[in-house]
Amino acid sequence: MIEVSHISKDFVAPKKYPGLRGAVKGLFSTEKVVKTAVDDISFSIDTGEIVGYIGSNGAGKSTTIKMMTGILVPTKGTCTVAGINPSRSRKENAQNIGVVFGQRTQLWWDLPLSESFTILKEIYDVSDAVYAEQMEFLNRVLELQDFFDRPVRTLSLGQRMRADLGAALLHNPKVLYLDEPTIGLDLVVKDNIRKAIKEINEKYRTTVILTTHDIGDIEELCSRIIIIDEGRKIYDGSLSALKDSYGTKRKVTMEIKQPEKAKKLRLHEVLGVEEAACSTEVHLENSMLYVTFDKHRLQVPQILSAVMAVVEVKDVQIQETELAEIVKEIYHHGAGGEA
Ligand SMILES: Nc1ncnc2c1ncn2[C@@H]1O[C@H](COP(=O)(O)OP(=O)(O)OP(=O)(O)O)[C@@H](O)[C@H]1O
Ligand SMILES: [Mg+2]
Repeated sequence: MIEVSHISKDFVAPKKYPGLRGAVKGLFSTEKVVKTAVDDISFSIDTGEIVGYIGSNGAGKSTTIKMMTGILVPTKGTCTVAGINPSRSRKENAQNIGVVFGQRTQLWWDLPLSESFTILKEIYDVSDAVYAEQMEFLNRVLELQDFFDRPVRTLSLGQRMRADLGAALLHNPKVLYLDEPTIGLDLVVKDNIRKAIKEINEKYRTTVILTTHDIGDIEELCSRIIIIDEGRKIYDGSLSALKDSYGTKRKVTMEIKQPEKAKKLRLHEVLGVEEAACSTEVHLENSMLYVTFDKHRLQVPQILSAVMAVVEVKDVQIQETELAEIVKEIYHHGAGGEA
């Protein structure tokens, strides 16, 4: 459905100089700096996939989405969406896609929501029959009827986001681009939006590309994720593979009876392993003892019996590394060339 091949996007900006003097100098200078926001990215996405496109602030996510929607023209490389070049055939492309930018609405601010929908119906040339069917579906999943007659500017953020999503789906697009669709929403509305996305994907096999900083969105919606960093792709694969290869740390939390004894615990000596070799961390806080270790090198029973040889353990909890931790780690240190 989507083929992105070696696309790059450079932005040219006037060179900035420091200080007030610099600001004045900048006004008269013709020097330019080139910023490569997207740097040689390729991927292809099949019909019906929901792909999470993630990366830290300024990584180049929105810029890629804008090239895929035809808003921006790539500096280099090509992109086809449903067989169409988005920036060359913007009108044709528009029929195939729906876009939601969570940061700002695509709707007419002062018009009642119903009017925005009527206008969109005309723009996309949606027949009365299709409109009626689609509105019934959208009303069910997004509950638009609650505020359908109100001007968009009077809507709460959650209502506005539902309205934006509904508007993007009115012409039943093949591809749906969602740029931070759950930003600023409370947990209930987030959940509704996620359910709606899932349902649309299942009902129509809509292809969905989603950028988000919300790990919950990724865990609940995306089977595949693409991670970018400074404009480059650093990971492309399944969420479970990401967890397998990076989520190798485990944490055991133990509530113990005699914390003062635990201070004397020399875990590595008891385990008979080199401290450096098994990247284990031990941390004691009041009566709680936290041990973090690499699950490929040590096992929980080993840790437990080593601790229990020294102190009495009242309660135990075992945690896998959370996806949020893995993602943070990758943003900081890259994916180690596994893209
Ligand atoms: N129109 C523009 N002119 C100049 N630079 C731009 C323009 N649009 C984006 N950039 C720069 O390109 C880089 C990538 O921006 P982009 O908006 O794609 O990031 P992002 O991954 O969407 O980040 P965020 O998570 O903050 O939304 C940033 O350094 C940004 O400042
Ligand atoms: Mg963005």
